Amino acid sequence: MKRFAEPYLNMEANEEGFCSLWADRIRIYKDIHLFINKKMPSDYFYNRLNLCNAEISSERLKKAEHRYFMNNINCYVYVHEKNADSQRMLIRAGFRWIDTMDVLTLAREPDLDSKNKTPTDMSIIKVKHADVSNWVSTFCDSFEILEMQAEIKQRIERSFDKMILLISYACSGNSAPQVGGCCALFINRGIIGLYCLGTIPKFRGRGLARKLVANGFQYTSNYDLDYLFLQTFESQDLSAFYSKFGFKLAYKKRVFEKKYHNGFIV
Ligand SMILES: CC(C)(COP(=O)(O)OP(=O)(O)OC[C@H]1O[C@@H](n2cnc3c(N)ncnc32)[C@H](O)[C@@H]1OP(=O)(O)O)[C@@H](O)C(=O)NCCC(=O)NCCS
Repeated sequence: MKRFAEPYLNMEANEEGFCSLWADRIRIYKDIHLFINKKMPSDYFYNRLNLCNAEISSERLKKAEHRYFMNNINCYVYVHEKNADSQRMLIRAGFRWIDTMDVLTLAREPDLDSKNKTPTDMSIIKVKHADVSNWVSTFCDSFEILEMQAEIKQRIERSFDKMILLISYACSGNSAPQVGGCCALFINRGIIGLYCLGTIPKFRGRGLARKLVANGFQYTSNYDLDYLFLQTFESQDLSAFYSKFGFKLAYKKRVFEKKYHNGFIV
């Protein structure tokens, strides 16, 4: 078995820890976990088998697939981009490469105001338990998943103490400040992950995301940590966006899919 460097293992563990707040985590073999959220079946961030720090035999892979197919969920598998053996095994087993996840790190404070945007017309607040609904509706609006609000609220309520939830308020003219964006910070394994960064469509392009990232980064110094990290799917086409803040690529993972539909693999 290949030995992985500690920062890589920490980032993987942080991401798995975060996923386990949003999905059921099932340990199927030593070092191998799968995540299932039956209420969000098409979301491959929360439904996945992670093979980024473990090898699996084809027999065991079949058993893992079965876990998803029993629930009528497609099976998604994550593999390190350079792990050619596992990728070959997945292709042989009928999987298709559908996306790539970039893992990015930020080790210095992001540039806050590149085009004289006025950061004073917005403020960032750490969410209190009583305000979870506000965070959830902002998140669901930003990611266009309003139908998932009840499920997400339940999960967030349950894990509230394990995350730091931020929302940003935007002001326009004399009207009262409105919630415009959100993100979640998750500290685990001595590193800090930035998740769920989103802004409501009508507030985009005003620097809200930039301010949220900058605020998230402050927690790295508050907690005396070296860097902030996050994941983004290449299908979202946000690498230019994140490189503007100074994020650097740490590594890539490939996402493979095997579809299941009405009892048949398609
Ligand atoms: C991506 C997202 C968070 C950007 O939010 P935003 O509030 O519009 O971002 P900002 O206004 O702070 O933009 C900061 C900079 O990034 C640029 N930018 C914004 N969206 C961009 C994009 N999709 N691609 C490239 N650059 C982008 C802005 O032009 C701005 O640059 P500038 O200061 O040089 O003008 C928002 O579009 C969103 O919520 N999308 C849906 C959810 C999502 O995909 N989240 C990311 C998950 S990884």
